[in-house]
Amino acid sequence: MGRLIVISNRVSAPKPRSAEGTQGGLAVALLAALQESNGLWFGWSGERTERFTGEIHFQRHGGVTTATVDLEEQDVDEYYNGYANRTLWPLFHYRIDLAEFDRTFGSGYERVNERFAATFAPLIEADDLIWVHDYHLVPLGQQLRQRGLKNRIGFFLHIPWPPQRLLVSLPYHQRLVRSMLDYDLIGFHTEEWLESFHHYVARELGGTIEPDGTIEVEGRRVKTAAFPIGIDVSEFERVLDRPDARNAYETLHRSAEGRKVIIGVDRLDYSKGLAERFNGYRRFLEENPDWLGRVSFLQIAPPTRGEVHTYEHIREELDALSGRINGQFAHVDWVPIRYVNQGYPRDGLSGFYRAADVALVTPLRDGMNLVAKEYVASQDPDDPGVLILSRFAGAAHQLREALLVNPYSKDEVSDAIRKALDMPRAERIRRWEALVDNVRREDVLHWRRTFVEALAKADNSHDRAEGAALPLLE
Ligand code: G6P
Repeated sequence: MGRLIVISNRVSAPKPRSAEGTQGGLAVALLAALQESNGLWFGWSGERTERFTGEIHFQRHGGVTTATVDLEEQDVDEYYNGYANRTLWPLFHYRIDLAEFDRTFGSGYERVNERFAATFAPLIEADDLIWVHDYHLVPLGQQLRQRGLKNRIGFFLHIPWPPQRLLVSLPYHQRLVRSMLDYDLIGFHTEEWLESFHHYVARELGGTIEPDGTIEVEGRRVKTAAFPIGIDVSEFERVLDRPDARNAYETLHRSAEGRKVIIGVDRLDYSKGLAERFNGYRRFLEENPDWLGRVSFLQIAPPTRGEVHTYEHIREELDALSGRINGQFAHVDWVPIRYVNQGYPRDGLSGFYRAADVALVTPLRDGMNLVAKEYVASQDPDDPGVLILSRFAGAAHQLREALLVNPYSKDEVSDAIRKALDMPRAERIRRWEALVDNVRREDVLHWRRTFVEALAKADNSHDRAEGAALPLLE
């Protein structure tokens, strides 16, 4: 087998040892695979330039080469802020009310995909395996084929795939989905997203779906399957002994002053259901006066995608809501919510997770959700905390022993908080053992291995020659 080539919007270079605690699990797994095969990771540098030149910045660290390009202001506006984050992200998270359809976004998105393909195709060798990631780069495989690449190319979607009836509200939806037929393997986190994709293929493209997940559309066959992503679990278990994790544990534990601690950790994104969560917690405080002053909710929510106005909006909404709840219930010596708009490195987070009696992971819709798995991996086996998890997170398909809730229902969230806080130790241990068993078994290395193995085996015998790509529809 040749090298592994990873292509994603953001690229994560290996960090020096001193900063290892800040490297995400996905990056660790991909970097390890890249290292083994002497592979390459391509993507956007995150920088803007006046004019796109296609100049590649190579970096080599720890046996891995990353290759990135700068994008023009207009590219960033139309491709990243526009089509990716104002059109696809809301629509794929079932928020058609927030999705914006603007033809300049679509053309900018295709232009950047073409630019990525034109820039990186010359660096790819005939036996390389190519792995494209996420909603920013859906048509990239097709663009690579049009440059004559016959390699095995796989695509993995890290967010939900929406139901067919929602997806058809996207102008040119067929154009987007048909571009995916140039991949050899398409992966989703769960059977639910996979089924929605199959349904679209059958209903809109008149395709057929074989029992092994191979789809066929107009003679073009593509393997599809679910590959639930996990975390770097052994690393998570190890970091608990590191000073940053211990300090974080001590800080949170001490500051709680004997109260029970509930934790939430999310990017500040409307899909995470933070307002609904705050309202569910408010309902809990209203209905359970015996808990006033005895519980403390820490919500960590670093801001993201600040150039997109729906994200400014949610920030204002949560500032106001947390202020109102604290105003309503706080005492001189107790505030019910600590709301922190700052990110923390993994080591610190694992200490916070360990110190928390309950985790509230209640997205309205989420491709997978790794915070749920990180929380489980960080618990004390003799005295584990309780995970409250949204039914609408991909992780709910695996983490069946969590307290599963409908995140839109204040009552369900409130009842689950009460149940979690009252849960006897024996039940906490029983549930946690089942959860951690899954988190350990289906970790990020398992995810990476199963995807890469399936890609290496995928049927690539049909004609992938230049010009053989399916015609683009208008
Ligand atoms: C989600 C997406 C990723 C994305 C990440 C952070 O997890 O699936 O592709 O990188 O959010 O978002 P950002 O816009 O900051 O890259």
